[in-house]
Amino acid sequence: MEKKIDIIFATEAEIEAVWDLEKEIFSDSYSLKTLEDILSSKNEKLIIAKDEDNNTVGYIIYMAAADEGELLRVAVKKDARKNGIGEKLMNEMIDDLAKAEVKNIFLEVRISNEPAVGMYENMEFQTVAIRKKYYRNPTEDAMIMKRGL
Ligand SMILES: CC(C)(COP(=O)(O)OP(=O)(O)OC[C@H]1O[C@@H](n2cnc3c(N)ncnc32)[C@H](O)[C@@H]1OP(=O)(O)O)[C@@H](O)C(=O)NCCC(=O)NCCS
Repeated sequence: MEKKIDIIFATEAEIEAVWDLEKEIFSDSYSLKTLEDILSSKNEKLIIAKDEDNNTVGYIIYMAAADEGELLRVAVKKDARKNGIGEKLMNEMIDDLAKAEVKNIFLEVRISNEPAVGMYENMEFQTVAIRKKYYRNPTEDAMIMKRGL
């Protein structure tokens, strides 16, 4: 049976749980201060996925500026992956940006990041440019992807 997942805007209560996931998943993790700034920002949004036991198992961070949106982070806890949570978070972002009358959403991704690229392509993002040697540790090209709304 599929587990129940709640998708909600993060509050101060979940910020440390997001930070724990951030440190677990990304080598260039955001600091707690950066996450708190995102929470209090008008343009940046932080949405989380909670499981039945109230554990934070994923999150998405994005921003809107004028009629453009940008995906900054999307992550799901390792043992909760491949259950549709990433896509649920992406859909929530898309709905929210559509309400804000955003016309296009952009994102950057390492070209070797197959799960993320697979998910973005599944969700109708298309590659619009490659930025050579954009990432460090390890050095790698970035794909710039875009989806219209
Ligand atoms: C990318 C990520 C968020 C996907 O989360 P998820 O909850 O596992 O994704 P979903 O279960 O919703 O899968 C959605 C689609 O993504 C693709 N996908 C997911 N995992 C994949 C994998 N290991 N290989 C290839 N494609 C994959 C598939 O197209 C999948 O659709 P399908 O199940 O219909 O085949 C997750 O792998 C993750 O947290 N990765 C580490 C953080 C990261 O790299 N984030 C992106 C850069 S900020």
